[in-house]
Amino acid sequence: MPEKTFYIETFGCQMNVHDSEKVRGTLAQRGYRQVETVDEAGLVLYNTCSIRDKAEQKVFSRLANFKRQKAEGRIFGVLGCVAQHKGEDIFEQAPHVSLVCGSASYNELPALLDRVEAGEDRVTGLSLDTEDTFETPLTRRDNPYKAFITIIEGCDKHCAYCVVPFTRGPERSRTSESVLEEARRLAGQGFGEIQLLGQNVNSYRDPSEAGWDFAQLLTAVGRVPGIRRVRFTTSHPRDFTPQIIEAIDENLVLCDQVHLPVQSGSSRLLGRMAREYGREEYLDRIRLMKQARRNIAISTDIIVGFPGETEDDFQQTLSLLDEVEYDSIFSFKYSPRAGTTAEKFEDAIPEVEKSRRLAILQEKQRLIQLRRNAELIGREEEVLVEGRREKSQQWIGRTTQNRVLNFTNPAQDLSDLRGSYCRVRVTGSGPNSLVGELVAKENAPAFTGFRILQ
Ligand code: SAH
Ligand code: SF4
Ligand code: F3S
Repeated sequence: MPEKTFYIETFGCQMNVHDSEKVRGTLAQRGYRQVETVDEAGLVLYNTCSIRDKAEQKVFSRLANFKRQKAEGRIFGVLGCVAQHKGEDIFEQAPHVSLVCGSASYNELPALLDRVEAGEDRVTGLSLDTEDTFETPLTRRDNPYKAFITIIEGCDKHCAYCVVPFTRGPERSRTSESVLEEARRLAGQGFGEIQLLGQNVNSYRDPSEAGWDFAQLLTAVGRVPGIRRVRFTTSHPRDFTPQIIEAIDENLVLCDQVHLPVQSGSSRLLGRMAREYGREEYLDRIRLMKQARRNIAISTDIIVGFPGETEDDFQQTLSLLDEVEYDSIFSFKYSPRAGTTAEKFEDAIPEVEKSRRLAILQEKQRLIQLRRNAELIGREEEVLVEGRREKSQQWIGRTTQNRVLNFTNPAQDLSDLRGSYCRVRVTGSGPNSLVGELVAKENAPAFTGFRILQ
């Protein structure tokens, strides 16, 4: 029997990145070895994203490169959000694809692969009719220091622009016990940082008797011995409770970072987007975070050029940036998506105007970040060291606020710092990162066990 090999490329959000880790483990157990190039692979998988048209096009341009190779016995599979959204249409667009499987069907992946391996063509796993989440102890994690844990899958909101409810199905939460068990196992394996994942983590509702909400789960994960950092993403503003901020305030293991996508600063537009909150309600959440004892970094997502966005709406988004002073933002031009409510909105904004607004928004935020990062010069930060940049002789670290802090070791000591938590003094700043110098290697954990800050 020839050796079975697979190649996987992942597009999209962290949920997809983590799904690919689970798929890799599932394939490894079936005797597949992962390879780094398509040329070496018998099975080629693309785990896809359809959040914007550009993201969706990526998989089709990849597939277009390989038309002839199917004849050589290579199997092509499309996984993830484009798979779920386009379904069998993918076979029409790319006839050399044999497998199309959405994220809600990954539990069936071994059975689907059996069929593909037996020579069956056009095999699909497209049911969204599921109560299950996809969990497996086989997960092969990419990063040796930081581990993702999915706590909730799917989304029950219906924001007018968004395909996610169609691509990932209804919300399903995992039991708190299975989340905690995974966290304990990861801590035992030496992962110091955990990131809890979900399209809307705040809607988490423990399906077991305990019935915990997200703040309760977060608190419990933060108390797992051996874990030094816990992050979570994404939070929906409507479901973001004061208890989450209290949890962060009470436990230093929970990072000083909240990603709270606003999408627009105009209540009128937020209404059209069906976001279920207005500017003032959103700002109430921000005020609560700013009043916290911890110095919580706040980031957001913004869409410009949503249908009907007037110059006044856009100006309100700009003024929101001034008011909140985000630590970072992800900003996008609106991209119409098939099947969403907004697809039928007629007052589209021309592409050039979307581009103009995006450039203005990004420049404004760049100046805010430049100023805010400069304020950090002179401070000492704890970083998790994630990598090394040989050219500049710098270690790459991340602060609790999720800022990149590149630093040198003035002691000229050659020991490898990767994976350790170091104390670093900030000596310089740019819009997207900080630079600094090592103060102490292996910073002692901020605390041992749970404690209330004074
Ligand atoms: N569940 C998360 C968002 C997931 S998608 C939440 O509710 O915040 C990530 C981001 O992509 C969104 O926050 C939004 O800013 C952007 N996005 C989603 N659909 C889009 C579209 N059709 N066009 C442009 N950007 C979009
Ligand atoms: Fe999409 Fe809205 Fe759900 Fe986020 S909350 S995934 S933007 S529908
Ligand atoms: Fe993309 Fe699907 Fe994530 S559409 S952003 S990969 S949930």
